[in-house]
This record gives sequence, structure tokens and C-alpha cells, in this order.
Amino acid sequence: MTRMNGNGQEAEPADNRVSVFDTSLRDGEQSPGFSMTTSQKVRMARALSALKVDVLEAGFAASSPGDFESIRQIAIEATDAGAPVICSLARATEADIEAAGEALAPAAKKRIHVFLATSPIHRKAKLKMTRGEVLKATVEGVAMARSITNDVQFSPEDAGRTEMDFLVEVVGSAIAAGATTINLPDTVGYLTPEEMAEMISEVRTRVPNINQARISVHCHNDLGLAVANTLAALGAGARQVECTINGIGERAGNAALEEIVMALHTRPEAFGLETGIDTRQLYPASRLLAELTGNPVPRNKALVGRNAFAHEAGIHQHGVLQDAATYEIMQPRDVGVPESRLVLGKHSGRHALSARLAALGHSPIDDEFERLFADFKIMADRKQEITDSDLESLVQEIICPANRARDHVSGSIRAIYR
Ligand code: KIV
Ligand code: ZN
Repeated sequence: MTRMNGNGQEAEPADNRVSVFDTSLRDGEQSPGFSMTTSQKVRMARALSALKVDVLEAGFAASSPGDFESIRQIAIEATDAGAPVICSLARATEADIEAAGEALAPAAKKRIHVFLATSPIHRKAKLKMTRGEVLKATVEGVAMARSITNDVQFSPEDAGRTEMDFLVEVVGSAIAAGATTINLPDTVGYLTPEEMAEMISEVRTRVPNINQARISVHCHNDLGLAVANTLAALGAGARQVECTINGIGERAGNAALEEIVMALHTRPEAFGLETGIDTRQLYPASRLLAELTGNPVPRNKALVGRNAFAHEAGIHQHGVLQDAATYEIMQPRDVGVPESRLVLGKHSGRHALSARLAALGHSPIDDEFERLFADFKIMADRKQEITDSDLESLVQEIICPANRARDHVSGSIRAIYR
């Protein structure tokens, strides 16, 4: 059931529906080695729309003319009701908020995402602002954004290292000023899942007007805990996740969208939550991002890596050939991977070789198969992966068509005289 906030805005989705906020084109794109041109960002935005993300953070309008233009072009393509909400990041300043509003103007649904650091180290070393000054800038920034659009998100940057009393005060003030989403970032990837859950619970219980906003979470992966922390936040009541395709993002990256979505999808009994993502678009979106940024996906990356549904060990291949569920907890096609791959290598056994030969149209008879298998193992010791053309050449060497014809004739004669 959708709840409305005090401003008549949709404040919280159905209790079990998680809103997916993709920041590949902002947090991801701003990290070293991942920058994209406007036309590349527009192509990626189309893939994210096909994936059905709820909110697409297209960039940081005030950060550069190129980012402004990218947001504007993405907004121009998002004019129908089925398009995602298009979002721009903005510091809590007039100039930033104005730029965000202008870049987003063509979109049917637009969100301004105002952020301001709240932790002691950021206040002292970076902002040189007192708590009072941070509070004032938050309220002014959110109110100004709210005069441009009804959909305003506020992020207390480095929330994870902010004193809880102050966090409660800032969040409450941001909501009172008109924020409809409160995003709590673990900016430096420092929290443990238990601490993350605790932060969300405290905010939920201590901020009096919290029901007027949706709680979001934004986790960095410095300790490899981004996805675990995101799932812990959901367990504690957050209902928006900020994430990126392939987990790209500042330093060690953000929580990977595909991992969060498939954890919820594959383990409904553990989480009881769902998203609106078309999971079959996960693999195509991952490939496109890798291609556009020139950063290949690691082979062993969960869900979208080349090995995610590949099997080489003989025992595993045998199992998968009997029933894929022996070693696969998801269907490859559910994430858009065409099929599981049986990789032929030195660990493969007879079952996998025989299945691959059959797929290539070969059905060696007894001793031919044994000779093929022996030669295949010798080749596999020298080569990491045996390709179909390697197999074809082995078949050419071992299965002699002339012998086959003679065997066939003598077999028929034997049958006649039996
Ligand atoms: O990591 C962070 O704190 C951010 C905010 C701007 C949300 O990216
Ligand atoms: Zn971030």
C-alpha cells in the first residue's frame, strides 16, 4: 500500500517494494577510468530504462558543462510516464540547485538530490562549518529544491560517521523543509552490516517525522561490504537502494545493482522484498557498461562475470548436465545470460566432452571416444580452454570417415548373418 506524506507526496512504497536508484552515471561515472561522453551516457541511460530502474541519477549538473548536457539529453528522452525519475546531484547551494533544475526540466519525473556532509571530520576538515551552519544550509537547500520539484532527496554525506543526535536533527529538519527521500550514505564504506541496521533503526525510531519520507541507503565497498550493508539496511526498514551496474563507483565502488536485485529475487523467503527490475536486462546492461567505459567485468564477478554460469570441473559438469540446479541457484536466462557454459578444460570429464561433441554433431563410437578423451586431456593440460575448433581438429584426426564407412558396412553384414 502506498503511504502519502504530509505534502500529499507518495512517501513510502508498498511495504515490500524496494525502489532501485541507479547511480552508475553519477557516482560510477565520476570515478577514475569510468568517464563517458554524453552520447555514451545516453546509450547507457536507455539500457537502465529497459532495466526498469525507478530512479536514474544522470549526473551532477553543476560539476561540468558536459555533465549538464548529459542530464539534459537523458531528461529529453524521459518524457513519458513509464520513464524512470531522472535525478541530478546538487550541493546545498543556489547555483547547484538551479543548474540541476534546469538540466532536468524536460523530464516527466524529476528529482533533485541535495547533499551536504554531516560527520565531524567532514564538517571540520572539508566544509569548515559548524553544526548550526550545516543545519541551516540543509534546510535552505532542500526548501529551494522543493520550490523546483516535488521530488527532493537529501543525503547527509558520511552519515555512517555522523553523531547520531546530530543525524537525527538534520534528517528531521530536511524532512520538515520538504525532503521526500532521506538517503543515508556510508560514504567511506566503514560500517558493518550490524552497524548499518542500527543506524537505520535509530533514524526510524528517533526522527519524529520520518514517516513523511522514504529511507534510502548508499553503500561504498571499501571493505567489500557494500551489498551486505545494503541488504542489512533493507532488513531494518530502508526501502530505496542506491547502487550501480557492475558495482562501479568511487574508490572500491558502490553496491552492485545486479547483486542486490538478484539476492532479493533468489531468496524471497529470506528478505520478503521485491523490486520492479526486469532481471533479464541485467547482463546486457552490464556488458554495455563494460564496453562503453572500456573496463571489462572480472571473470568471477557475481551474476554478470563470464564464469558466473560456467562450469569446468568434471564433477560439476556431470551434475549440471543431469540437473543444472546441482550447481546453479539461478537460471542464467533470468539475468539475460543466454545459457550456462560448460567450459572444457583439464578438469572436465567424459560427460561434458560427450555432450559438447553431440552438440557439434559428432557421435564417436566406443574406442573413438576413448581415444578422443585421452587426446583431449593431453591438449587441455597445455591449453587453458578447449574451444569448439580444437575439438573439431581432434575429431578430424581421430574419427576417420573411411573407417566409419567400412565399420558401418561390416556392421550391417554382421546384422544380416546374425
Ligand atoms: O558517497 C556519498 O556519500 C555520495 C553522496 C553524494 C550520496 O555519493
Ligand atoms: Zn557515493
